[in-house]
Amino acid sequence: MTMNVSRLLLVLLLWPLAVMADGIASPSPERVARGAYLAKAADCAGCHTASSSGAPYAGGLEMASPFGIIVSSNITPDRETGIGTYSYEDFAKALREGVAPGGKGLYPAMPYPAFAKISDDDLHALYAFMMHGVPPVRHRPPETKVPFPFNQRWALRLWRLAFAPKQPFQPHADRDASWNRGAYLVQSLGHCGSCHTPRGIGYQERGYNESSKTFLSGSLNDNWFAPNLRADPGSGLGRIAQEDVAAFLKTGHGAGVVAYGSMVEAIEDSTQYLTDDDLRAIAVYLKTLPATGAADGVFDASQAPGRLKTRAPDVAPEQGAAVYAGFCAQCHRSDGKGVKNVFPVLAGNPSVISEDTTSLIRLIVEGGNSPATIHGPPRQSMPPFAGRLTDAQIAQVLTYVRASWGNDARAVTTNDVASFRSTIHK
Ligand code: HEC
Ligand code: HEC
Ligand code: HEC
Repeated sequence: MTMNVSRLLLVLLLWPLAVMADGIASPSPERVARGAYLAKAADCAGCHTASSSGAPYAGGLEMASPFGIIVSSNITPDRETGIGTYSYEDFAKALREGVAPGGKGLYPAMPYPAFAKISDDDLHALYAFMMHGVPPVRHRPPETKVPFPFNQRWALRLWRLAFAPKQPFQPHADRDASWNRGAYLVQSLGHCGSCHTPRGIGYQERGYNESSKTFLSGSLNDNWFAPNLRADPGSGLGRIAQEDVAAFLKTGHGAGVVAYGSMVEAIEDSTQYLTDDDLRAIAVYLKTLPATGAADGVFDASQAPGRLKTRAPDVAPEQGAAVYAGFCAQCHRSDGKGVKNVFPVLAGNPSVISEDTTSLIRLIVEGGNSPATIHGPPRQSMPPFAGRLTDAQIAQVLTYVRASWGNDARAVTTNDVASFRSTIHK
């Protein structure tokens, strides 16, 4: 009897402490650490940090969208300029529904259609990290100014009702744990579809999971083409082994393909930090997505090397060969095989033979660099050719690259290059 009373007293005394430890006042270090990992998986810092020496999570990054330039918010726990006054419920509503306190509808530049699928447990850990693992920074990013009618934030709530998924991720009982983990990471935190899934007329992603045939089938965003991640053998991941997909996400190098464009930041800020188990799970899941079946510059090793195919009358492939020999072969080699872990392979490289050639033209014009990661080879760069090659020469060399060594993709025209250059470098 006395035992029970003293126990009761003890429980009453310790209860407030227990509540605090449970996350209301001060969550456990383990939970904060798990939230930090999830924030990497979701790349919160990538979008919420201004590129030029901005404080992490203090916002101010300008993001191009069809609505205009959207500026990311300060999500440090500063009470005036950040999210310091957010309750957990406020946080969950912003992440899953795209509605910030006060009913402010958020632009889908914040990937809440994907974050709607984050589990309750993960969302609690993310909240714990944002509130207790991130130092508050007083900083008011410039306001987003987009033209009418897109400046009507209330309309964004209707957009969500019409277009965005609302349900948390549902595991598939007929699939194993690894597949389900991969599906969850790709669809929710990883928001891979926000770049890799084509958009519909309402800017919605055309598919948010494997039940859609267009999910992750390739899309153009901010003048980078994010390729097809389905099983198509040419411009998809059909010939890239599961281990190579995982290695690519960890180091930016896999099967001779090297990351470039907006995927460089996705790897540097986010995927390189994932555990090997999580990376394997993502690769397992991606490798189960069926091919779209679209004609895709399919690579057939039995084809005679050097076979050229051109569907554009104004491009002379022989001249392309000369440009290649003079400007490209020193790195990518005359057989298009590149140098392992240094210069990418061009023969059979899915993104080289994709139907959409925006990324290729942009890379030749601007140059680029491979990612620098903890476990990968050092950063390498490709020089810009803007001042050294004419539009016609760029078209010729890309046509040559897309039609050599078994590659069999449509030609690039001088007009393709010229119109791209006038869009991006006004
Ligand atoms: C792809 C870019 C991107 C990623 C990734 C991203 N955000 Fe955002 N987020 C934005 C943009 C842009 C806004 C501002 C939208 C607006 O003004 O309508 C925003 C707004 C927010 C807001 C609303 C703040 C307010 O009151 O205005 C919160 C909270 C938020 N993000 C949290 C997060 C968290 C937590 C993560 C990671 C789990 C994350 N975001 C990942 C782009 C991103
Ligand atoms: C900010 C936009 C963006 C996001 C987010 C993004 N990607 Fe990419 N991704 C790209 C672009 C652009 C390329 C093409 C450049 C390249 O091959 O590196 C690419 C390339 C790839 C490739 C190589 C494909 C090939 O055929 O060469 C893989 C694999 C990939 N992404 C997987 C993912 C996964 C998995 C996620 C989510 C965890 C993801 N990406 C998120 C933009 C993005
Ligand atoms: C100094 C070495 C160098 C030269 C010269 C060079 N490249 Fe590259 N190239 C690279 C590197 C490094 C990458 C990876 C770039 C990145 O990550 O942005 C790359 C990437 C590419 C890619 C994307 C493939 C992938 O998987 O990343 C294509 C296509 C390409 N180069 C074509 C060319 C063409 C065409 C020329 C000649 C006009 C050329 N390159 C000249 C080093 C070079």
